[in-house]
Amino acid sequence: MEKILDIKDLHVSFVTYGGEVQAVRGVNLELYKGETLAIVGESGCGKSVTANSIMKLIPSPPGKIKKGSIHFKGQDITKLSNKKVRKIRGVDISMIFQDPMTALNPTLTIGNQLTEGLKQHRNISSKQANDQAIEMLNLVGIPNPDERMKQYPHQFSGGMRQRIVIAMALICEPELLIADEPTTALDVTIQAQILQLFQKIQRETGVSIILITHDLGVVAKIANRIAVMYAGKVIETGTRQEIFYRPNHPYTQGLLNSVPRLDQKGEKLVPIVGTPPDLFSPPEGCPFTARCPKAMEVCSRVYPFQTELSDTHAVDCWLQDERAKKYIAST
Ligand SMILES: Nc1ncnc2c1ncn2[C@@H]1O[C@H](COP(=O)(O)OP(=O)(O)O)[C@@H](O)[C@H]1O
Ligand code: SF4
Ligand SMILES: [Mg+2]
Repeated sequence: MEKILDIKDLHVSFVTYGGEVQAVRGVNLELYKGETLAIVGESGCGKSVTANSIMKLIPSPPGKIKKGSIHFKGQDITKLSNKKVRKIRGVDISMIFQDPMTALNPTLTIGNQLTEGLKQHRNISSKQANDQAIEMLNLVGIPNPDERMKQYPHQFSGGMRQRIVIAMALICEPELLIADEPTTALDVTIQAQILQLFQKIQRETGVSIILITHDLGVVAKIANRIAVMYAGKVIETGTRQEIFYRPNHPYTQGLLNSVPRLDQKGEKLVPIVGTPPDLFSPPEGCPFTARCPKAMEVCSRVYPFQTELSDTHAVDCWLQDERAKKYIAST
């Protein structure tokens, strides 16, 4: 399979009055053509900062990509000029956020907003742009698209607005769609419908999707692969089956025990006690040590090596690493 995105050893910090927030600390991620990769983890673990780095949308100052590379179709985005990145943004890579209202202009009709991007980036007539916009609204499930094109954002419900935002993100046929908590602001029924829509879009357009969410339940049906983040690091990656049925990292296990699951009715939900570490001075060892029911002495001192459990499944935890014995023996 073709690899379209390759993030290596990404480090992103924010310099604030309180000190340097090390938001992303050595993230590695790969994305293959046509797959949905979910990035999950508690609030503040660095999901949005990772996603925004791909779009070169880190406000600087205070933010800075300190180290690492982000290769998109062979070129390193971190090294591109802002001008070149603007050509990629919205055309090759599109992003959607939690609140659809921020992405829509309340003073322009939906039709105008949908065709604007097309006319800007593609050399096509107004008629062609219009036809394509209607086709997109059809794809995302907006009834009577001809009529709806003439209406303004406030004339749509929250769920319909998010569908329009998705249509806007897809209209230039990007290769990569990044959705950052796209359903968090919506009620549960609408959430499910929007997730189904992502599945349909993937099937029909073949676009690669990065879906970011704090809710593991959301990705259960639609992710091909899952990356679990904790305190600025990816601590476990695997296929959906590996993460749901053979979770290895105690944090992933904790996450799974804290969300309702369709396949385990009646199981008691157990929240993970404690809070993630402060990212001003993150711990040297495993950042989960203070909350981990299986922590050993070595954990707080040395960050675990990555262990590959299968071709697709990798974990950063001393429990899986033979070398832990050596580290314990040497102390
Ligand atoms: N503009 C900013 N200035 C300072 N700190 C920031 C900024 N943006 C994000 N952070 C910090 O970076 C860390 C990761 O944030 P974020 O990626 O937004 O988390 P999430 O996983 O919830 O999306 C958090 O500690 C957050 O406070
Ligand atoms: S490395 Fe140690 S503290 Fe970290 S998750 Fe594994 S056992 Fe727990
Ligand atoms: Mg976020």
